Amino acid sequence: MSDDRPIGVFDSGLGGLTVVRHLLRLLPSESIVYLGDTARVPYGSRSPETVRKFARQDAYFLAGHGVKFIVIACNTASALAEEDLAGRLAIPVLGVIKPGAAAAVRLSRGGNIGVIGTRGTISSGSYQRLVRQLLPSARITGQPCPLFVPLAEEGAACSPAAALIAEEYLALLQAAQVDTLILGCTHYPLLEPVIRQTMGSKVMLVDPGRALADQLRCRLEELGLEATGRRPPFHRYFVTDCTAQFQPLAESFLGAPLLGSVEQVDLE
Ligand code: DGL
Repeated sequence: MSDDRPIGVFDSGLGGLTVVRHLLRLLPSESIVYLGDTARVPYGSRSPETVRKFARQDAYFLAGHGVKFIVIACNTASALAEEDLAGRLAIPVLGVIKPGAAAAVRLSRGGNIGVIGTRGTISSGSYQRLVRQLLPSARITGQPCPLFVPLAEEGAACSPAAALIAEEYLALLQAAQVDTLILGCTHYPLLEPVIRQTMGSKVMLVDPGRALADQLRCRLEELGLEATGRRPPFHRYFVTDCTAQFQPLAESFLGAPLLGSVEQVDLE
């Protein structure tokens, strides 16, 4: 069995393109329909009810475009809305939290795991709960790092300011001597050099987007949903607001030129 319908991916904005980056690498035959809710970003500082409402609108929009699978690239939406969406949709849904937590447990040598993310992700306790389910003896320390998002969006991910802020945010995780750190936000892979420098070379850094791409490949295979590879894949990008910064920002998250059409839509 195989299926040439596209994979739907949504995020609060353009950060989810750090997840698409891994999908393009690992699943090159798959078509992708991406929705970035750029008019309402950030989700990370909003209430759980609002994030769930936005996530439902995002997912229904993608379902309306005939996708075969929905990927929640946004950590905040995965943490707060994955269960809700899985219960409502007839198509399979996968967020970044489960693959990210599983990868951290697999990679951790001593079970001393840290997680950083938005306020919404960290206060939901989703990563913490899942890690403990998979490894009951784990010690897990969570730390919100809200200023990392604007630093990445302003092209300042590797600036001296980012290094200073990282020192402050990551002090608790250094003190806890974590051996593995989950980069639990779409934007944080861009800050990886600064986080690596602050945490030292021995700490394993986990990119949940990468872990999701691995898990998605297995799920598509299990469900008989892989693309046939007989047709060239297409990539379609939707955003709810398009600013002058769109192109450079999108390409910095994607790590490549943006190929495919870009359209603006209204979800409300
Ligand atoms: N995409 C969000 C996440 O991964 C970060 C940006 C936001 O707060 O919306 O949690």
